[in-house]
Amino acid sequence: MELYLDTADVTAVKRLAPIFPIKGVTTNPSIIVKSGKPIFDVLLALQDIIGPDGQLFAQTIGNNAKDMIKESEKLRSKIPSIVTKIPVTPEGLIAIKELTKQGVPTLGTAVYGAGQGLLAALAGAKYIAPYVNRIDAQSGSGIDVVNELQTLLDLHAPSSMILAASFRTPRQALDCLLSGCKSITLPIDVAELFLADPAVEAAIDKFEDDWVKAYGTLSF
Ligand code: E4P
Repeated sequence: MELYLDTADVTAVKRLAPIFPIKGVTTNPSIIVKSGKPIFDVLLALQDIIGPDGQLFAQTIGNNAKDMIKESEKLRSKIPSIVTKIPVTPEGLIAIKELTKQGVPTLGTAVYGAGQGLLAALAGAKYIAPYVNRIDAQSGSGIDVVNELQTLLDLHAPSSMILAASFRTPRQALDCLLSGCKSITLPIDVAELFLADPAVEAAIDKFEDDWVKAYGTLSF
């Protein structure tokens, strides 16, 4: 499977990249804005941290196919390996089809329904990003959308893969992975929650206490 961090916080990625077995980093316009830096400064810094084998994703902001394609070209002129995220709107589908024709990898984003995700896959998007928590927050079921979409991709568009996004809890992410989803992107706080069980700290404190009491030093 592939694990990504969904952030443009360069300091956090620097801290977590050596710890988490990540494949790369995903961003979106709101995440870039939050970084407070110009887009290409952030993207280049992120690519630098994840290295040449790390996969970076960045999203277009224009709301018509022509601008999306232009922005994708701009992104790729600075970072040739980047995957362009394109919102799955009517214009987005035109852009995905054209970029696919040119051999440019895309991710169909802002996916709230399995049918919408399937259209992006049929248009040629390599990755499809259903927004699990945002669907849940609308009283839908993010996991149901992921499951339906996975079945549709298996049946009709096997070259596309789900990169599930928008998580608020580790439980949502685990449910996605348990249902067979091969790729997820986690915000920093959710990723950190995977290692935040206080019982783990308590267990390690006890090992250390026992050891130091017996041997006087924390090594052997
Ligand atoms: C993914 O494509 C999006 O960038 C992101 O995961 C949206 O998630 P949010 O609901 O945490 O903003």
